[in-house]
Formats: sequence, C-alpha cells, structure tokens
Amino acid sequence: MAESCPMNGGDGTYSYAKNSTGQREAARVVEDALRDAVMENLDLSKLLCGSTTFAVADLGCSVGPNTFYAMETIIKAVQQKSCSTNLEFQVFFNDRIGNDFNTLFASLPQERNYFAAAAAGSFYGRLFPSSSIHIAYSSVAMHWLSKLPEGVAVKGSPAWNGGRIHYTGASDAVVNVGYP
Ligand SMILES: C[S@@+](CC[C@H](N)C(=O)[O-])C[C@H]1O[C@@H](n2cnc3c(N)ncnc32)[C@H](O)[C@@H]1O
Repeated sequence: MAESCPMNGGDGTYSYAKNSTGQREAARVVEDALRDAVMENLDLSKLLCGSTTFAVADLGCSVGPNTFYAMETIIKAVQQKSCSTNLEFQVFFNDRIGNDFNTLFASLPQERNYFAAAAAGSFYGRLFPSSSIHIAYSSVAMHWLSKLPEGVAVKGSPAWNGGRIHYTGASDAVVNVGYP
C-alpha cells in the first residue's frame, strides 16, 4: 500500500472526519484504562528530569475529532497525576505523508492546551529523536500493513488465504507469515 492509501481527507460527506464514530468509540472505551495506567504507572519526576515539557504522539492519527479527543484524555490524565500548573504539552500528530494534515490542523480545537506539530511518515520507521516522547498512543492503526505479506495472495502457496483480507480462522501458515 506504500504511501498511497490515506483516509478520505476534508470534512465532506465521505470524509474520515465524518465517518469514524466507530473508531471514536474505540478511543472512548479505553479512556478509563488509559487514565488508570497514567495514574498508576507514570513516574513524572523520573521522566521529566526537571523539564516542564511533556510530549505525546498519536501514531496514525488520521483526520477528524478522534485524535483530539484521545490527546485531550491523555493530557487530562497527566495533569491530574502531576498536580502542577507548570507543565506544558506538545502533541505530535503522526500519519503517513498522504494524510490530510491541512484539514487536521485547520480543525484543531481552538481552546486546546497543547502545542501541535505534525510528524509525517511511517511509524514503522524512526520518527523522533531518542527519549523525546513521554507517551505514544495509537488506535486502530497498527493493523495497517505497508505491503501484502508474502504468499497470502498466491494460489498454491502454503500461506494462500483463499482471497480473504482477514485471517480470522485462517491456517497457521497465514497467521505466521510475518508482518512487513
Ligand atoms: C482507521 S485510521 C485511525 C485514525 C485514528 N487513530 C482514529 O482512531 O480515528 C488508521 C490511520 O493509520 C494510519 N497509518 C497506517 N499505517 C501507518 C504507518 N505505518 N505510519 C503512520 N500512519 C499509519 C493511516 O494512514 C490512517 O490514517
């Protein structure tokens, strides 16, 4: 699929922004678990080492309200944990270069309490300097493959998946074929 298959951009009838309530629900369902994980596991003094900037990345953010909702959930949880008013937040919105970053940035919430930046490129490669992100979040994106796994579309191959695009109930050969 290389870089050629982004979600529908813009905010029209068929845009991802207007057709992703299911994915929004996925973000909503994990909200409590996310907040609990931050409250229980985040060691801010160790992570920040005196810095007052907290960096969050959304890997595979697409366009639309879902990413803003998720980033706000994380920021709220970190604020609750830190009890400090000094903390500033930097959010990196990551997606492939074909993503409609223009619409994403044009629709940023006006009242947001974070600095926003794009990190364009594949999350299978290196996107950030080491130790520069405190929380990396990703929802409904990691199952996207950069290319077809070998053999799944080749009739006669042990990994032939019978023309299906999912591997629920598939043979071990299909399941173990390895992700690119
Ligand atoms: C179904 S959308 C999910 C968007 C958003 N996270 C949400 O929950 O609504 C999947 C997104 O992941 C992005 N994506 C897939 N593979 C990626 C990769 N290797 N690097 C960066 N983004 C990727 C796609 O471009 C797409 O925008």
